[in-house]
Amino acid sequence: MESAPDGIIIADSRSNIILVNSQTEKMFGYHREDLVGQPIEILVPERFRAPHIIVREKYYSSPATRAMGSGMELSARRRDGSEFPVEISLSPLRTEEGILVTAIIRDVTERSQSREALRKAHDELEIKVQERTAALLKATAENEQFQAQLFRTEKLAEIGQLAAGVAHEIRNPLAGIRGAIEVLIENNLPAGVRQQLMVEILQRVDRLNHAVQDLLEYAKPMSPSKTQISLNDLLESVIQGFRHDPQLHEIEVIKHFRSQVVVNTDPMLVERIIINIFLNAVQAMEHRGRLDITLDQKDERASIAFTDRGPGIQAEHLDQIFNPFFTTRSKGSGLGLALCKKYVEELGGSIQVKSELGRGSTFLVFLPLAAVSSQSSIEAKRKGT
Ligand SMILES: Nc1ncnc2c1ncn2[C@@H]1O[C@H](COP(=O)(O)OP(=O)(O)OP(=O)(O)O)[C@@H](O)[C@H]1O
Ligand SMILES: [Mg+2]
Repeated sequence: MESAPDGIIIADSRSNIILVNSQTEKMFGYHREDLVGQPIEILVPERFRAPHIIVREKYYSSPATRAMGSGMELSARRRDGSEFPVEISLSPLRTEEGILVTAIIRDVTERSQSREALRKAHDELEIKVQERTAALLKATAENEQFQAQLFRTEKLAEIGQLAAGVAHEIRNPLAGIRGAIEVLIENNLPAGVRQQLMVEILQRVDRLNHAVQDLLEYAKPMSPSKTQISLNDLLESVIQGFRHDPQLHEIEVIKHFRSQVVVNTDPMLVERIIINIFLNAVQAMEHRGRLDITLDQKDERASIAFTDRGPGIQAEHLDQIFNPFFTTRSKGSGLGLALCKKYVEELGGSIQVKSELGRGSTFLVFLPLAAVSSQSSIEAKRKGT
């Protein structure tokens, strides 16, 4: 008992101390003769003494062993009045003189200090986390604002570009019309010249109309109506459609249909995409030469490649050709590829271009393939089963 690291106190049935070990003396700063015979409350801080008496009497009426570490952390009082945290275990012993209670008292100052330090560290961490979260939220909000600003700026730039294109598209024919009318005002024009000027005016009016039509088309929200089609059949029918077109008399179209390709798509839109790219190639080759069309499928995508042997596209034009109104052709509106891109993306696909100056260009159109079961049902239809 003397060598125990904890304080040990034995109290009698009236809760008076009858025995203490030397650890108790050290812990509380008393000599044992000052403790023996005293009520146990001498070791309890004044403010807890009254409640302690109640609790202790209750314990004596139904004494039981209560182990250390059962969550009872109490305050103990030293002789000099200072307090320290303790944990106490109790075990009753029934004797002829009544119940004796052995209390083992452990000074847990260190433990509660480290717990306190832990709590403080935790609180500090919590504050830091809150600060960081607030900073992060602020940064996110600022970033969102910046993104919105950027979006507006980009949109404005886009609208500016579009407006410049529209202005150009309208001003050119208007200037032509104005010039023609100025000449027409002169009274003594030969009939043939008058006739010629009128035709020019009509052509320019048509061109204006065409530009407005294209612009409306470009700005129109789309609602594609999809159905299952064979791209082989669609390409074939477009090529057939141009068979008697004089612009294509000296164009050799070579087909490389590498597989049967079925897509779930809007055939009208796909046809317009094909025609746009097809005619661009024909125009680039100045209506003369070889145009290869390759149809294939890979990685759940259908691909159609149009390879011409035209002049190719200058590097600085490559990322502009899909912009509305970008054109290098005197008679072009520059909306063809912008529309193609819009259509293709609307259909879940994409469009790419590769070009080499002096050699030619390849325009690649990708479209998502139809599900496998529909592939076979189209296949069956084709075979007439
Ligand atoms: N196959 C090609 N080879 C070389 N340049 C091309 C080819 N296809 C397109 N381009 C370039 O891209 C530009 C834009 O093409 P886009 O089809 O959008 O307009 P456009 O053909 O000029 O006019 P339109 O609106 O009448 O089609 C062309 O003016 C041309 O400079
Ligand atoms: Mg075009």
